[in-house]
Amino acid sequence: MADIPFDQRDGFIWFNGELIPWADAKIHLLTHGLHYASCVFEGCRAYNGEIFKLREHTERLVNSADILGFKIPYSVEEIDDACRAELKAQGLTDGYLRPVAWRGSEGLGVSAQKNKINLAVAAWEWPSYFDPEQRKRGIRLDMAKYRRPSPETAPSHAKASGLYMICTISKHAAEDKGYADAMMLDYRGYVAEATGANIFFVKDGVIHTPVADCFLNGITRKTVITLAEQRGFQLIERHILPEELSTFEECFIVGTAAEVTPVGEIGPHKYTPGAISAALYDDYMAEVRREIRVHASA
Ligand SMILES: Cc1ncc(COP(=O)(O)O)c(C=O)c1O
Repeated sequence: MADIPFDQRDGFIWFNGELIPWADAKIHLLTHGLHYASCVFEGCRAYNGEIFKLREHTERLVNSADILGFKIPYSVEEIDDACRAELKAQGLTDGYLRPVAWRGSEGLGVSAQKNKINLAVAAWEWPSYFDPEQRKRGIRLDMAKYRRPSPETAPSHAKASGLYMICTISKHAAEDKGYADAMMLDYRGYVAEATGANIFFVKDGVIHTPVADCFLNGITRKTVITLAEQRGFQLIERHILPEELSTFEECFIVGTAAEVTPVGEIGPHKYTPGAISAALYDDYMAEVRREIRVHASA
């Protein structure tokens, strides 16, 4: 399945209220979302038949659309139901879901006041975002050329397609040099995040993570912060300078697709996947699978 192009797979896609054959889920060339990036999306994962934090993802989708100035013509309950229906139609208990909303093809120009708003949800199996072997050693990150824009330059808190243009450029440049991903600084030069995941560091037993003031405050980031607190780990959200990268011992990235992934290198800086990364990986996997864990505080 992994090698079959996405437009040629079998199954169903929930498309504007109906489950239609996967191959029929097409849009017109002159779609506003394609030309002008008037498109927002989500990435959710299902574990053991349950979509993890579905309501938070749906609310973020609706809010992202709101930030871009459009209203998705379905309620959050209807969007949640669409996601569950899609998962079921695909016969999946564990998988990745991609809800996406976009301005349609009724008119093409910067202004698109009358264009219809579309919503679709696709689901597929997606076991690991990174190569499992690389992931064990800690993935290698390059430094990205582009920076996360200021909230005064772009709608930084929307999960909007347009914001991923600099992520794809950065990830491709990193992959071309043999890295798994890239780490982006923000517009001020502080450490921000990877191209599709938030970042954490460990130094002397204390966890440090950048303040999410110009990039997505990820649902996984918030979950991991709570899990770290439950473990009794000290965690500081602060602005982190690139000069500090050489002083950290552990590093990991977190996101719905990436889950909790240890980082072994950022450019010239080396990290060793250690006890804190491992504990939070275990706790996150237990949390998403709804396992009850009891541990002594650290
Ligand atoms: C750029 C970016 N940052 C952070 C995240 C992490 O967000 P979440 O944990 O809500 O998936 C994602 C993934 O959605 C992302 O694409």
